[in-house]
Amino acid sequence: MEIKVVENAKDIECDVLVVNKFEDELTSNPLVNKYAPETFKGKAGETFVIHTRGELPSMYVLAVGLGKEQDLNNTVIRENIAKAVKKCAELKAKTIALDIDAKFPFGVQSVIGAEIANYHFDKYKTKKEHRISELFISKVSDDVKVGEYLAEGMKLARNLANEPAAFANPAKLAEIAQGFEGVETTIYDEAQIREMGMGAYLAVAQGSVNPPKFIHIKYIPQNPKRRVAIVGKGLCFDSGGLDIKPAASMLNMKDDMSGAACVLGIMKVISKLQPSVEVHAIIAACENMPSGSAYKPGDILTAKNGKTIEVDNTDAEGRLTLADALCYACELNVDDVIDIATLTGACMVALGSAASGIMGNNDEFVNELIKIGADAGEKFWQLPMWQEYRDNLKSDVADMRNTGARYGGASSAGMFLKEFVSGDVRWAHLDVAGTAFLDKPQHEFSKGATGIGVRTILNYLLSY
Ligand code: BES
Ligand code: MN
Ligand code: ZN
Repeated sequence: MEIKVVENAKDIECDVLVVNKFEDELTSNPLVNKYAPETFKGKAGETFVIHTRGELPSMYVLAVGLGKEQDLNNTVIRENIAKAVKKCAELKAKTIALDIDAKFPFGVQSVIGAEIANYHFDKYKTKKEHRISELFISKVSDDVKVGEYLAEGMKLARNLANEPAAFANPAKLAEIAQGFEGVETTIYDEAQIREMGMGAYLAVAQGSVNPPKFIHIKYIPQNPKRRVAIVGKGLCFDSGGLDIKPAASMLNMKDDMSGAACVLGIMKVISKLQPSVEVHAIIAACENMPSGSAYKPGDILTAKNGKTIEVDNTDAEGRLTLADALCYACELNVDDVIDIATLTGACMVALGSAASGIMGNNDEFVNELIKIGADAGEKFWQLPMWQEYRDNLKSDVADMRNTGARYGGASSAGMFLKEFVSGDVRWAHLDVAGTAFLDKPQHEFSKGATGIGVRTILNYLLSY
């Protein structure tokens, strides 16, 4: 969708003019004020459409309720603009104009809401979905361009996680990373990964005919205020390995690289957003497959930092790949490390698709991310990092084993990752197992990949 900022959206010739209605107040549009029924109060989510019969430059006017003006916030704007855009698509509109009359800065959220609503993964369908092609928006107080870049990052993340594993394999992720502008990308192949001593990651990768690719993307601005590493779980497919998953649990495991997809979405747009932060994006991409060469329960692996791990279950593979990726990130001597991973079914059991889990070694940092996420439309809920969860990981033969007890699995996984975080970095772990991929529509999102994490992490980087 092309976004055009204009002096006055209501004067634009287009298919649908979208205006807002605050609860029990008049709109800026005389036709709506005259013809809307009593029952259209302007509560959030209500809509009313009217054909202009040539009385205005647009063919239709669509009024969308935004509730009470004093209750307006990012979420109300984003969700209801998304709703309005879906209505416009039902009217088969190609061009729409947004004439929102509010004091609240609504530009960024309007653009993001519109782009989320206009997203379809229809690459493999011969009949394409209807899409809005142009959106006109009146000059606003906040920077619409920021919304466009955030949405562009989300779109790449959603596309990559929606893609079948046959397409989005480790080599493809590496190829995509090499195509980004304004950043420097290094890809390490299997031999180089071995040289770096990443024994945990390599063990997971060894069961697949598709070789692993370790991806490091650097964005280095002048005079950075901070140095940050973002690490994305990049399991291009998770069959479970020899501890193979049942069919129903394996069905969506092409999405097990949603963390990597998020990180790639961010790095695609980072040089356009130009945060004053040095950013290192790290992905240990591979596939977890059962085969004659696959790693086995009982194997003992040595991670990059020298710690040994007894393989208790080959389906707890994400933490093994992240272990080496986190060691690598910490060796860069960055200030902050954020990892994002579809890590545990346990997190999904705890929080469903409503919120992602967050853990870390610094509560101030965790709270900052929770706050930024809430403002951006991504909910995070902190889970504990208590010693009890580490006790579950004790092994008789190695420094730790890769799974804990049956219960508290999200926290045990967090404690496992913590073993590979070193120095005095602030570290946060985002478990997005329940939020990366929806099995039914939720809020402004359709089924499938959500691009979770892109907005929170980018807004965090932009906060400096
Ligand atoms: N990729 C899965 C976690 C997952 C589950 C993501 C459901 C999205 C939806 C992860 O690799 C996994 O298999 N975790 C196991 C760990 C267990 C063996 C300790 C799990 O959660 O069941
Ligand atoms: Mn698994
Ligand atoms: Zn996995």
